[in-house]
Amino acid sequence: MLAHLLHLQGIESVVIEARSRQCIEERIRAGVLEQGTVDLLNETGLGERMQREGLLHHGIELRFGGRGHRIDFSELTGGRGITIYAQHELIKDLVAARLSAGGQIFFEARGVSVHNFGLGSAAQPTIRFRQDEEPRELRCDFIAGCDGSHGVCRPAIPAGACAAFERVYPIGWLGIMAEAPPSSEELIYCYHERGFALHSMRSPHLTRLYLQCAPDEDLAFWPDARIWEELQTRFTVGGGWRLNEGPILQKGVTGMHSLVVEPMQYGRLFLAGDAAHIVPPTGAKGLNLAIGDVRVLAGALAEFYHAGGRSSRLEQYSQTCLRRVWRVQRFSWWMTSMLHCFADDNPFDRRRQLAELDYVISSRAASQSLAESYTGLPLD
Ligand code: DHB
Repeated sequence: MLAHLLHLQGIESVVIEARSRQCIEERIRAGVLEQGTVDLLNETGLGERMQREGLLHHGIELRFGGRGHRIDFSELTGGRGITIYAQHELIKDLVAARLSAGGQIFFEARGVSVHNFGLGSAAQPTIRFRQDEEPRELRCDFIAGCDGSHGVCRPAIPAGACAAFERVYPIGWLGIMAEAPPSSEELIYCYHERGFALHSMRSPHLTRLYLQCAPDEDLAFWPDARIWEELQTRFTVGGGWRLNEGPILQKGVTGMHSLVVEPMQYGRLFLAGDAAHIVPPTGAKGLNLAIGDVRVLAGALAEFYHAGGRSSRLEQYSQTCLRRVWRVQRFSWWMTSMLHCFADDNPFDRRRQLAELDYVISSRAASQSLAESYTGLPLD
């Protein structure tokens, strides 16, 4: 996305990707795009397939105490919504747009390392990697570390130059993709005394479901029949409603982690997305936050190149991003703590969580607050 935004500003970039094109185009991640993300994709000419195949949603359901309650995003936010479009579908569109514009992407780059991006005037950012066993070296003006939480950029920053703020949650999500029509038109976030569950979807024929489990849950103990039984129990509501079941096409366990690195820059290296911050999955903010970062970074780089090397926005990059990052961290933490059961919860905490949910569905101010963050805080 950053390469695309830079291209629109006439700025050249090279993308170095450790994995194969097939791998990044197939890997299943979340699938919720905020209104601002959708608007940016449309404005920059990337929204055509998303418009056709994405599912536009105007609300979500919160389910607890055996009842469902709708939060109407449109009505609460003046018409904003979310679009369900899988992250790997968006990646296919981004790769296709980059390649058709003549952009350079090195896939399956091995042994990537970043050098000489430091603070001094002698800095000459350099990236070394191998492709097809051939060593390569790329010299550039700036390095954008968009290489995720296990990438090489964040650890390359000298110790002590950045601080990490971190929280690990003692829970995980068991996620499945099922060949079954969604059981509701919208997402359902469900609080249950046996643990959280989430109903989402990818298409009229594919349902995506999650249930709270241990962070190191062994899938060997989760045959398909047990997964369906547990999901049916957690989603129970009156009136004989049941989840549609079908063959399970994929299963996996996701951990829960919050992390922010400050500042998100060092010299001529700028971290963006998961390289700089991780959110727990509740609320599906990871991709949207990354898009927010690169929008700021593209604007700052455009100022640098088009205003004779002025670097005021580059210097402000971290501060600009972190303000939004922390507000989104707060939201993801809040959704996570409101909707999950924790081993050390006592009956007081359970009652408090139910009171919080009751407040969210019955107060316009509280549901508006959820709707505002869920559909996306302003990008600017
Ligand atoms: C999905 C994932 C999420 O983390 C979430 O909050 C909502 C939906 C998904 O995969 O569809």
